[in-house]
Amino acid sequence: MALVGIGTDIVEVARIAAFAAKPGALERIFSAEEIAYCRARKNCFEHLAVRFAAKEAVYKALPFGGVAFKNIAVHNGPDGEPRVDIADERCKNLRVLISLSHTQNYAVATAVVENA
Ligand SMILES: CC(C)(COP(=O)(O)OP(=O)(O)OC[C@H]1O[C@@H](n2cnc3c(N)ncnc32)[C@H](O)[C@@H]1OP(=O)(O)O)[C@@H](O)C(=O)NCCC(=O)NCCS
Repeated sequence: MALVGIGTDIVEVARIAAFAAKPGALERIFSAEEIAYCRARKNCFEHLAVRFAAKEAVYKALPFGGVAFKNIAVHNGPDGEPRVDIADERCKNLRVLISLSHTQNYAVATAVVENA
């Protein structure tokens, strides 16, 4: 497998909290599953912030642009490990891995893209 790209991003949790206060803002960027996952947690904005960071990190790691953030969606596996689904034909031969971490103030994400 060949490494295609790497991306990273850091997000301030407070900025996402302010963004979320605008009607319809979350729905423009996050999937229904992502919103439900975050809303079910005590520190909702940390989880939203890290998903925003993940979308940015994946965007940076991909070898092409023009992927809408709504089409880059994070979900969690059985042990809580994050996975990413990208609804874009150009990703069909790519494997994208992500790693996420967040605190009260900041959320960070790293993405790696390989040829599948
Ligand atoms: C899962 C674990 C790595 C998360 O780390 P943390 O410092 O609590 O939290 P972070 O902010 O760094 O990371 C949180 C993110 O980790 C990711 N994560 C959760 N479980 C994961 C797993 N099994 N593998 C990879 N990533 C995981 C998730 O994306 C989560 O964010 P999300 O819920 O918004 O998707 C941590 O709880 C852990 O190490 N658990 C095992 C603890 C253990 O066995 N300890 C024994 C010590 S003696």
